[in-house]
Parts: sequence; structure tokens; C-alpha cells
Amino acid sequence: MNILLLGSGGREHALAWKIAQSTKVSKLFIAPGNPGTAAVGQNVNINANDFDALKRFALDNGVQMVVVGPEDPLVNGIYDDFKNDARTGHIPVIGPSRKGATLEGSKDFAKAFMARHAIPTARYKTITAQNIDEGLAFLEELKAPYVLKADGLCAGKGVLILPTLQEAKAELRHMLDGMFGNASASVVIEEFLSGIECSVFVLTDGKDYQILPEAKDYKRIGEHDTGLNTGGMGSVSPVPFATPEWMKKVEERIVRPTIDGLAKEGIDYKGFIFFGLINVEDNPMVIEYNCRMGDPETESVMLRVKTDIVDLFEGVAQGNIASRKVTFDERAAVCVMLVSGGYPQEYARGYPIEGTENVGESIVFHSGTAVKDGQLVTNGGRVLAVSSYGKDKAEALLKSFEAANAIRFTDKYFRKDIGQDL
Ligand code: AMP
Ligand code: GLY
Repeated sequence: MNILLLGSGGREHALAWKIAQSTKVSKLFIAPGNPGTAAVGQNVNINANDFDALKRFALDNGVQMVVVGPEDPLVNGIYDDFKNDARTGHIPVIGPSRKGATLEGSKDFAKAFMARHAIPTARYKTITAQNIDEGLAFLEELKAPYVLKADGLCAGKGVLILPTLQEAKAELRHMLDGMFGNASASVVIEEFLSGIECSVFVLTDGKDYQILPEAKDYKRIGEHDTGLNTGGMGSVSPVPFATPEWMKKVEERIVRPTIDGLAKEGIDYKGFIFFGLINVEDNPMVIEYNCRMGDPETESVMLRVKTDIVDLFEGVAQGNIASRKVTFDERAAVCVMLVSGGYPQEYARGYPIEGTENVGESIVFHSGTAVKDGQLVTNGGRVLAVSSYGKDKAEALLKSFEAANAIRFTDKYFRKDIGQDL
């Protein structure tokens, strides 16, 4: 089968790496891909949101399945676009419909969906410029810290956690005044939940599902979770508190009701669901839904999926995911992200990268790299994801840190405390 994978980050390199291992794949195309994906498939210079060009390419190249990495094309309706076009209707897209992607695209939709299906999540209220007084009153009912979320997509930047009531009230006004453009025309105010986070991933065909290995990611730039939020500085799988008993609660209280809820509401969903969970006194609660895999979670999760991933994608496309089996690698897997100095604020691009061949058994996924005059150079805030297996987390981390030290570029930075809180 010929597969077209969409996206260009570390998540997509990890997906491409896994797809390329499948015995079912003849050709793997990645649009637009990056220098890392070029080593496991063929990059195609098409933007993941240019649906017309993607459809033309798919038809011209006998593409039999499209796998979507990032959320934008999903929120923009790529699933529906392929499905409703007589020329491409037969090509399955692994990813939800536009309506399904609203679970990620609108925090208000996600919260209301959880309320309708009694899925455990923080208490909330959605506020617009029209009912700001209700918002201010709701904030008074809550205890510090205060959580404000822009309703729409903000590339991971739309959540503010404020220490005082005064700041929360001021920031609520700023958000409604267009701090995140139209994305914060509605703001979800939430009760703060205290606990450790865990990312749980499923592949669903809209009726049934298979649960993939869970992971924990590290969002802050600084060690011991300090400083600004980033796209993610590393990940670890498995997560020790995600015991079989805890995962049973996740499945019964969250995964099953979500998939039944989607089906009941007639929402077409064939793809990944990423449950951003928090463990509150041993009870899982939902912080957010995403309609895709996590980045950098994918860079450890894919290492632990032993099953042929394309077999699972076929189960999604054919509506028989229940009959497929997922086996997990018993080893631990971790990912340490190497970033450009200055990230997540201003940083330079174009520094030569050396030493990616001196990483022992580690696997280097490309997040933000380019090739300039034959030389691999930095080309983003997150540059490389260094993933490793180990008999346990400590061994895997040791390997990733050694490899992280062996790779060189100007102003390289990585967190040396990944996995230490678990
Ligand atoms: P989100 O984009 O919804 O995942 O929020 C970004 C981050 O903010 C999460 O990963 C959490 O660390 C934090 N967060 C979001 N909502 C809450 C909440 N209700 N309580 C505590 N922390 C939260
Ligand atoms: N690692 C979090 C995310 O992908 O949204």
C-alpha cells in the first residue's frame, strides 16, 4: 500500500519511522516532511493544508491511505474534503472529521461534550464579551490559582494560569479583548486541578478502540517544571502511576464514554484521540482532548508499539479495530528534546548540527532541521528529539542524555531532569 503522511515535525518523523517498518507499505510519502523523514520515505513539497494539491498528488501517485499528523488539517476538514470528493472518497484518511476535530478545536465544545456524557473534568463556565459579569462572578467562586483557556486553537499558548483573583479578572478582559485574536472571543474558565498529568492515546474506528502506550510529557522550558511553556521538552513511557487499575478507570470513565458519545452524536471519528489527563487522588480527569498524537509523546510511544501500525490503521479504516491486537514493548522508552537557545522565545536558526551519527542505539527524530548546502542545520525551536529504549526508565534516560551530549550545535539546550519526577 502507498501511504501519504502529513506534517513536518518530530511527531511525524516518529510516525514515518514506525510506518516504514510495516510489511504492508510499498511507498511512504510525507508532505511536507523534514530531513529526518526523507531518510525513511519520500518527502513531497506540499503544505499539509493545501487539500487540492494533496488530492491531486494522492490520485497521481496511487495513494491508498492518508495519515494526518498535526491538528490544523483536521480542524480544517481534510477528512470531509477527501470523503466528499468523488475522486478521493475511496482513500481513507486516518483522522477525525471536522466535527470530531472540534474536540480539540473548541475548548467550549469539548467541555460541553464531557458534561453531556458525564466524563470527569474540571468545573467550568464559558464566557464571552456578552456575559463577562458571570465570568467575574464565577472567578470569585473559585479558589486560586485560576485557569483561563482561549476557546480556539492557539498553538498551545492559549491557557493562562493566574495566581491571584485580580490578575485572573484582568486577563479575562484581555483575552476577551482579542489577546489571542478570534480564538479568545470565548474563554473557558476552569477550576484548577492539582495532580500529575498523563497522556493516553487511542486509535478508534468510531465504535471501538485500541489503547496505545501512555506517556508523560514535560512542557516547561526549565528544570523542575519552571519557566515558560514549550511545545514539549521530552517524554517518558510507561508512566508508573498508570497501573492496570488506573487504566481501567481511564477506560471505563473516560475512553468508552467518549467514543460512545461521539457515536451517539453521529460524529464521524476514525483516528487518534489524545486524552490529556490529570491524576487527582488516584482518579483520572480530563484536562483536554486532542484529535492527534502528542509531540513529543509520539517520539517515545511509537518505540513501545510492537504491532505493525499500518495493521491498526487498516482496522480504523475498515471499522474493525476491535479485532486487531496491540502489543506493547516491555522496555521503557524516553525522548529528550534538544532545542535552540532562547526557545520558546526568540532564537536563531541555521547553526550546523554535528554528531547525529554518534548516538549509539538512540534514535534521533528531526523536529526543526533543514539541509543547507549539504549541511544539516537548526531550523526551529525544537530541533531534535533523542529517543532511547532501556530495560527501565533510568537506563533509557542515560542513553538519551549521552546521545544529547554527543550532538553539537551552537546554543543547544535540553532539560536534564526529564523523567525524574516520576
Ligand atoms: P491545555 O492546553 O488545556 O492542555 O492546557 C495546558 C496546560 O495547562 C495543561 O497541560 C496543564 O498543565 C494546565 N492546565 C490546563 N487546565 C488545567 C486545570 N483545570 N487545572 C490545572 N492545570 C491545568
Ligand atoms: N505534548 C502535548 C501536545 O502534543 O499537545
